Amino acid sequence: MPAVVVVGMQFGDESKGAVVDYLAEWADLVVRYNGGSNAGHTVVANGEKYKLHLMPSSVVRGKRGVLGAGVAFDPEVFLEELRDLKSRGRNIDVLVSLKAALLLPYHKELDSAISGGRLGTTKRGIGPAYQDKMARVTGLKVADLFSPRFPQRLKEVLEIKENELRNAGILTGDVEEYYLKLLAKAEEWRNSLSAFIGDDHLEVNEAIAEGKFVVFEGAQGTMLDVDHGTYPFVTSSNPVAGGACTGAGVSPLAIDFVVGVMKAYTTRVGKGPFPTELSGDIADYIRDRGGEYGTTTGRPRRVGWLDLPMLRYSAMINGIGYLAIRKLDVLSGLDRVKVAVAYEIDGEEVRIAPPYVDELEKAKPIYEELEGWKVNDWNEFVKGGWSSLPEEVKNYVSFIEREVEAKAILIGVGPDREMTIPTPHLREIIPL
Ligand code: IMP
Repeated sequence: MPAVVVVGMQFGDESKGAVVDYLAEWADLVVRYNGGSNAGHTVVANGEKYKLHLMPSSVVRGKRGVLGAGVAFDPEVFLEELRDLKSRGRNIDVLVSLKAALLLPYHKELDSAISGGRLGTTKRGIGPAYQDKMARVTGLKVADLFSPRFPQRLKEVLEIKENELRNAGILTGDVEEYYLKLLAKAEEWRNSLSAFIGDDHLEVNEAIAEGKFVVFEGAQGTMLDVDHGTYPFVTSSNPVAGGACTGAGVSPLAIDFVVGVMKAYTTRVGKGPFPTELSGDIADYIRDRGGEYGTTTGRPRRVGWLDLPMLRYSAMINGIGYLAIRKLDVLSGLDRVKVAVAYEIDGEEVRIAPPYVDELEKAKPIYEELEGWKVNDWNEFVKGGWSSLPEEVKNYVSFIEREVEAKAILIGVGPDREMTIPTPHLREIIPL
């Protein structure tokens, strides 16, 4: 069985959660490799909706999940999700990497105070936590939480961070008191978390060596990657497929396939360039039908037409051979559907998106129009399968496949697990 990376091709929110949940039927292990509770992975199973922020999407099926070393681990969110999922009858089987970066309450407060407004972050503390990880002298890992030296390490970290926390108005009183409060919280977390922590690298690599089906679940999307996205309007981790290697501790040679998840149109939440952005009636139509409001923040998402230059860039960076195309139902009812096939930048035609903010702001999309589709009830097509779909839908999918040079394995026509329609290409990655 293969090792597959599921990666977002756009600005996040592509429905990776639904795709991972679909593949999890056959998976032995699902591994989150980047980001933290800034993610909002929605899984709808048997009419029940699960909004997961930190947990791997495997938990809905009760499958084994891992939070890898590349994750920014917030104990408060993890324990809250754990309580919520358990109260809904889910059996949670998750391993948290000892190497994951520890995200503390002050990271969330710093995010709100500093980067939140300027970059439009989710205010989940992601940037400040990775900042401390990279600074090393102020970073703590999950392993530190379980070390007898934790009190000393936390003290040293606070010595360095005290001024920053005071300047941001987060620490106003006595630093010793603040320290003791954090220490008490850490004690609580340790007790509740001890059953979940361990050596993720051993478990993941052994699973691959034993030929198990391992799915690496990316959070956010390629265009939000700190190195390859629209910097500085990006997240602080590596959502790209390569992030699975660094974030989970596996060799690039261990990955068999990369599945790119994309919406049938484009959305973006937060600031940053967006060449195919729409406003007015069509934007409202897509936003309302697609429920395009942030899972983590509730903010209305910006919406736009499909952007092929961006998808080609993404396919190249990630080595995408297969696609999961979601939310085709949302575009239903439009007479014509536009797709940006290239950009014009300074009079030149550009086919692969340059990820630089200045270039993207100048980019004028060159559109092609395709025939729209009008379907009110998708159930007959779900029953009839891929071949029964309206020609216009199949044309739209084939057009994308040709332009991006990748094969669709799944299409999504609704949020429910049942509304995912496999194509014959699915067999190329899963021996069904
Ligand atoms: P941060 O990851 O909270 O630092 O936010 C940085 C940027 O990434 C902001 O524009 C966020 O809206 C965006 N972002 C972070 N996580 C997600 C996600 O899971 N889906 C979509 N956008 C995200």
